[in-house]
Amino acid sequence: MDTDAALRQIEAAQGLEALQSLKVQYLGKNGLLTQQMKTLGSLSPEERKERGRQLNEAKGRLEAALEAREAALRERALQEQLEKEALDVSLPGYAFPSGGLHLISQIQQELLGIFRSMGHSVVEGPEVESEFFNFDGVNMPEWHPARDMQDTFWLQKPERFTIHGPFGEDVGDLGGALLRTHTSPMQVRYMIQHTPPFKIVVPGRVFRYEQTDASHEAMFFQLEGLVVGPDITMADLKGAITELARGLFGAEAKVRFQPTFFPFVEPGAQFAMWWAERGRWLELGGSGMVHPNVFKAVDDYREKMGLPRAYEGMTGWAFGFGIERLALLRYGIPDIRYFYQQNRLSFLRQFRN
Ligand code: PHE
Repeated sequence: MDTDAALRQIEAAQGLEALQSLKVQYLGKNGLLTQQMKTLGSLSPEERKERGRQLNEAKGRLEAALEAREAALRERALQEQLEKEALDVSLPGYAFPSGGLHLISQIQQELLGIFRSMGHSVVEGPEVESEFFNFDGVNMPEWHPARDMQDTFWLQKPERFTIHGPFGEDVGDLGGALLRTHTSPMQVRYMIQHTPPFKIVVPGRVFRYEQTDASHEAMFFQLEGLVVGPDITMADLKGAITELARGLFGAEAKVRFQPTFFPFVEPGAQFAMWWAERGRWLELGGSGMVHPNVFKAVDDYREKMGLPRAYEGMTGWAFGFGIERLALLRYGIPDIRYFYQQNRLSFLRQFRN
């Protein structure tokens, strides 16, 4: 057997299979070297010693060569695989379009954060409302002009759905059905169900039957606040609105109240915020001290439900304003229709958070 030739074969083997057959060919049970080992017995002791040493040395070299070649082949296979499966991280990836909150949702969350920090709970009410909660309960009797066809989306007398009161009771006998024109009905619903003192804030969609133009939409969002307790005063209202103004426009913000009329407050005041950065007043919404007739309507309802009257001797303040209006003023947006009409994504994307 030519050991050197065998070693060259091993080194030249191009695959693991070829290498395996070389191993069998030389070192296998009937391999060349194995066969030569078997002939040792027929030699003289001296010859055997010399020949044995030679064969053992040859065997050691072959084994080492086989092992080295196997390692090299495996390494090469691994490199090939790595190259074949390599990921080109410099290729541009796929851009998945990402969503974002609508500007009005963002502002709503900001506002709720400010009121939560003042200890208000956030509560929500139904958008399809009963005439009673939307109007009568907040001291807007039948003759009130806001009930006109011009302002309110009236619904067909509900046959396929029921309007529920605060305890789930059917209130179909308390007047017609409508899309709520403000979030104030939630004042009445909440007070019927809870006893003072409490602080709440009510975000929600409201609807007005109007011609839409740059500053009017038939649907918009309001934020309503209500605080009731034994000694709540107008100073508390001013404090809360001031805190709101600071939260929105910074420590230098100021507020201004001017007397105005809303049936459900007495006295009533519209409020504006001083936007120091721009040096102007932003006329934002309405507010005032809860009208005694609202408390009375609430207590009458509670009594009807078998609950004790809970609002005699209580006072409270309330406010309400439109979130879109705040957005328009704050960002100098020229047209309220940008928010919901014409699918103006290009507009909304500018405010992506
Ligand atoms: N509900 C009134 C509106 O929609 C706003 C308001 C709420 C005014 C609470 C005073 C107190 O215009």
